[in-house]
Amino acid sequence: MSLHGVITGWGKYLPQRVLTNQDLERIVNTSDEWILTRTGIRERRIVGDDESVSTMAVEAGRRALEVAHLSPGSLDLIIVATLSPDKLIVASASLVQDAIGAKKAAAFDVVAGCSGFIYALATAYQFIASGAYRNILVVGSEAVTRYINWEDRGTCVIFGDGAGAVVVQANEQATDMLHFLMGSDGSMARALYVPSPCDKLTEMPQDGHLHLLMEGREVFKFAVTTMAEASRQVVKEVGLQLSDIDLFIPHQANDRIIQAAAKSLGIPREKVYINVDRYGNLSAASPPVALCEAVEEGRIKEDDLVLLVAFGAGFSWAAMLLRWSPGLA
Ligand code: ACO
Repeated sequence: MSLHGVITGWGKYLPQRVLTNQDLERIVNTSDEWILTRTGIRERRIVGDDESVSTMAVEAGRRALEVAHLSPGSLDLIIVATLSPDKLIVASASLVQDAIGAKKAAAFDVVAGCSGFIYALATAYQFIASGAYRNILVVGSEAVTRYINWEDRGTCVIFGDGAGAVVVQANEQATDMLHFLMGSDGSMARALYVPSPCDKLTEMPQDGHLHLLMEGREVFKFAVTTMAEASRQVVKEVGLQLSDIDLFIPHQANDRIIQAAAKSLGIPREKVYINVDRYGNLSAASPPVALCEAVEEGRIKEDDLVLLVAFGAGFSWAAMLLRWSPGLA
């Protein structure tokens, strides 16, 4: 008997502290007007001192389990996509597993830039299709602001913290995941990264600080082209048209990137989900937070065709086409 994965639960968690563009004006040489015109961001959330990627993942994960009516003890696997794990050694997924009491679940993290959540979700579907597991929690959680150099106006205005999660469960009838693709171009690793104390010593930053470093223009060019190409490809390979899409959920990195990609694809504004104005770039947490909010706001209904697409550090990219069917389980 073959098994199929279907998303049955979703949840999100955003930390309470809000950092507005006006707050940033007092920290660094920038302006609300510059940030808004160049990025579309008005405010972002900042992880609390007593919070981390795993604590935020736990909150989002618990909500997703509630929606799915699933107990933590029934989970077979927990995957956390993150760039900002609590610890370098110990998967944040293991900390989530312990905190929620998912005693029989295996746990690991996925590191694939802002594309990490889609990579993790695709992995979950494979484990279900192979028959290995039935109940999987997939989380995107980020505390990237902990890496931020608050004197670097090119990066400090962009990122925010938060977590989103989905539960993927096996059923015998059909899957909601029509197709996915993933890609990587490691030759561009230097355009966006955070140094690690484990790297070659010759690679360590002179000042010893482990801050996020980004060549914004390089990332921008790559993002527009890749999100559009990946979206076209994933839709074409499954024999559908871009006009069939009911909701386009691109990685919320920058409103200009989103608008340029949507324009190139001919997807009208009303079919594009946007929350970058409220949260900034949530990295690997961006797709699940947007998906969860879109469902909660009634923007996605049973049987809708939803296209998720993301790009990020690596460079990496991923796209996934869902026929929204939580009722299948
Ligand atoms: N406030 C005011 N001025 C600024 C700021 C700021 N916050 N940041 C940069 N500037 C200045 C620059 O110094 C530059 O000044 P100059 O012309 O005197 O040299 C000028 O604004 C233009 O700078 P650009 O870098 O060319 O500005 P751009 O229009 O490209 O916007 C931005 C910069 C917003 C970073 C854009 O390039 C971008 O969004 N890139 C993509 C970033 C991204 O998506 N990163 C996440 C990837 S996902 C992941 O895996 C984490």
